[in-house]
Amino acid sequence: MHIKTILTQTYHDQNPGTSGLRKKVKVFKQRGYLENFVQSIFDVLPDFQGKSLVIGGDGRYFNREAIQIIIKIAAANGFGELIIGQNGLLSTPAASHIIRKYGAFGGLILSASHNPAGENEDFGIKYNVNNGGPAPEKDTLAFFERSKVLESYKIADLPDVNLDAVGSQDIDGLKITIIDSVNDYAELMQSIFDFNLLKQSIQNGFITLSFDAMSAVTGSYAKRILIDLLGASEDSVRNGIPLEDFGGHHPDPNLIHAHELANLMFSENAPTFGAASDGDGDRNMIMGKGIFVTPSDSLAILAANATLIPAYSAGLKGVARSMPTSQAVDRVAARYNIPCYETPTGWKFFGNLLDADKITLCGEESFGTGSQHVREKDGLWAVLFWLNLIARRRQSVAEIVHEHWQKFGRDIYSRHDYEAVESEIANGIMASLREQITTLVGQIFGDYVVKYADEFCYHDSIDGSTSANQGFRIGFENGSRIVFRLSGTGTVGATLRIYIERFEPDATKHNQDPQIALAELIELAEQFCKVKQLTGRTTPTVIT
Ligand code: G1P
Ligand code: ZN
Repeated sequence: MHIKTILTQTYHDQNPGTSGLRKKVKVFKQRGYLENFVQSIFDVLPDFQGKSLVIGGDGRYFNREAIQIIIKIAAANGFGELIIGQNGLLSTPAASHIIRKYGAFGGLILSASHNPAGENEDFGIKYNVNNGGPAPEKDTLAFFERSKVLESYKIADLPDVNLDAVGSQDIDGLKITIIDSVNDYAELMQSIFDFNLLKQSIQNGFITLSFDAMSAVTGSYAKRILIDLLGASEDSVRNGIPLEDFGGHHPDPNLIHAHELANLMFSENAPTFGAASDGDGDRNMIMGKGIFVTPSDSLAILAANATLIPAYSAGLKGVARSMPTSQAVDRVAARYNIPCYETPTGWKFFGNLLDADKITLCGEESFGTGSQHVREKDGLWAVLFWLNLIARRRQSVAEIVHEHWQKFGRDIYSRHDYEAVESEIANGIMASLREQITTLVGQIFGDYVVKYADEFCYHDSIDGSTSANQGFRIGFENGSRIVFRLSGTGTVGATLRIYIERFEPDATKHNQDPQIALAELIELAEQFCKVKQLTGRTTPTVIT
């Protein structure tokens, strides 16, 4: 194998965010840009000579080209085997599973998740370690540091690899294996859920469903699992063909971006169950006929019902949620007397707790839910969990949700995003909040008395590491909360996220519209951060 060392221009902006390095495609296409970042990762990682690396992506524009580049750099740097999803496709949870199942050294996942795709849109790359989870912060920081001084990369002189045909080939001692993207993942799902029961419930018409793959990676997975294995009708998977531009969709499963599905689910003709996933298949949105389940509630409901699922029948070790996720799951944990952990935003913080077997389920308000089975959040897993639950309880989604609220009370919840805010304004808002939290405790705002106000700092009980500056929390005596943080995944300006929640124990008040029930807190949030006043905007860009 002929290996070349190429002198390269150093880039200073390759700082991975909440979930890998995400930039516009045009940025990634700059000479040496992707090559530099991949070489920086390999320079930091120790002892991978002869070991295997998993490679796959969500199929977005530039996925195939990027994979060909990565193959050549990985070959030049001494990996022994490359395991690649057919057509270059692997959903993020499937990649996590494949790393674990085949004992790979790690994996490179090409995705910008729920961000739009296409020549003028976003691309991303993320390194996952051998537990199948995203690289921890100390690694991603090291990648960035390395990239800032990198002067050359190594690349093998190889012909492009055919990504379309499953099979193995040997190129000068490097094994390249193209695997079916879905097989291993589908097997894993069958080992967790009661597929016989699901099949029965779908085939006898008790469950009718609509899954929106948003023209992204989950199309292939959903078709195999829901249609081929469980017998759902052909039209139960919408937008099921993965496209390079995701068909122009913004593959972020929420009521705004998955509005086709939302409209269907609130219509006369709604099936019993509706769901959507995002670009790379790790997010999920759950709906029933006439009802949308907030991700925070979904996590709590899955936790409360977990013993109905074969893989979790022995009960849960514990649960975890990201800091801005509502406290609904905390109530379930308290009731069942299991530990509940609060971690910073981003899936990487769950990895240590899962590895140490402290938790079985975890989730985020941002449409992410997952478990011990992989080290990423998992969209289709959540869908199958809900289907299994519906089949076991013989109830509709709405009945399950309302019963849950009756038993535990409702944590009314909403997130308001202000996207593409000028960085200077956003930083000013954060600075002002940092100042305000020092004086807020004890202050009274209408019905709300501030109990605590802080900047969240996480101490990882497993590896002893500390992650500071993880967002501002303002908590009130009545259990309500307002949280502010800046997004770490955006590619234009800054995105301010405001998370608002209020606990409602009274079942006669559970049917309120969250925007109305939270109106006073929403006002209060504006009073604290002044985002409308400072940007001249009148409404958030997205409300979930
Ligand atoms: C967002 C979500 C976060 C999630 C991440 C990756 O990050 O808020 O929960 O883990 O995407 O999917 P953010 O843009 O808020 O940093
Ligand atoms: Zn995603």
